[in-house]
Amino acid sequence: MTEEIIILGIETSCDETAAGIVNSKGEILANRLLTQVDEHKMYGGVVPEIAARAHLDYLDKLIEKAMVDAGLNFSDLSAVAATCGPGLIGGVMVGMMSGKAIAASQNLPFIGINHLEAHALTPRLTDSLEFPFLLLLISGMNTQLLVVEGVGSYKCLGKTIDDAIGECFDKSGRLMDLGYPAGPYIQKTAEQCADPAAARAKYPLPTPMKGRKELDFSFSGLKTAVRNHVQKEGDDLDKAALCSSLQQTMVDIVCERTEKAMKIFKREYPAGTGFVISGGVAANRPIREGLSILAKQNALDFFAPPLNLCGDNGVMIAWAGMERYKLGQYDTLDIPARPRWPLDPNEGRVATSG
Ligand code: KG4
Repeated sequence: MTEEIIILGIETSCDETAAGIVNSKGEILANRLLTQVDEHKMYGGVVPEIAARAHLDYLDKLIEKAMVDAGLNFSDLSAVAATCGPGLIGGVMVGMMSGKAIAASQNLPFIGINHLEAHALTPRLTDSLEFPFLLLLISGMNTQLLVVEGVGSYKCLGKTIDDAIGECFDKSGRLMDLGYPAGPYIQKTAEQCADPAAARAKYPLPTPMKGRKELDFSFSGLKTAVRNHVQKEGDDLDKAALCSSLQQTMVDIVCERTEKAMKIFKREYPAGTGFVISGGVAANRPIREGLSILAKQNALDFFAPPLNLCGDNGVMIAWAGMERYKLGQYDTLDIPARPRWPLDPNEGRVATSG
């Protein structure tokens, strides 16, 4: 009988403090998460210093609760995995150092996880997806199209050259005085728009990079255009119409870029059949629907991890640790925290944390 492997995963790279535990059968033994929405909402975005302090306040208890959920002691673990980047460095250091301390005290292997790799490998936990597959990662910190070739092997087809898509949703929502994080509020407000076509004509927005051969994204011009509409309309602003126009524009941009990536993926990886979306913005219903139709049209199977595993979480870190553990890929305790850590070392210019 093969011995059961159990891994604790710790995530603190942005504004979610999270701890998850998985076993080698792919069972989730614990999934504890605390979002810091209340700490950051008055600023309309994540404040790195506040995030780091909040991680420090919450993490110990959260790990303790995860261990109780799983009915385990630290000595029952096979290894400890923690995000070592990319992300807000203060927060990354809190989680990484906690993980190292647990590993050192129990004499367990420590596995330093690239947060993006954890998103990328999640569909292997949720859907047993085989390599290679195409991944669209759309979150508050990242926007990129990647071919996931294997553990540690990624090809970046395109990424944002300025803001992440979730950042654009959040900043646009702030301009319209919607709640934070704004993505879900924009979706909800857009649903109140009776005539989406008229909304788009009333509040036209640019589709930066559309039609370009390279597969990068750009969202900063879009945010500026939203600001211009808000300032011009003042009290007459029709928020439902502007949210609808913004959301439709996002669907257009994401689908246009992704369709090009699908064609490249099918040509260069004929064995690949899967297309995955992940990251918090993957919760957006019109974006999800648009991409699922696109996958069908391009003869790819569509996968979207359940919403609680789409955004940042500790389970994905534990699972990435599991994949690396099975390959014997442990780290020494001097592995550093990295604010930037691209998955594909050959990718060109880099503007965001990934
Ligand atoms: O992956 P995630 O949980 O963590 C970060 O990367 O921070 O993503 C959070 C992002 C936020 O920008 C939030 O506004 C966005 O995901 N989001 C959405 C929706 N739900 C969450 N954006 C659009 N529509 C949604 N329904």
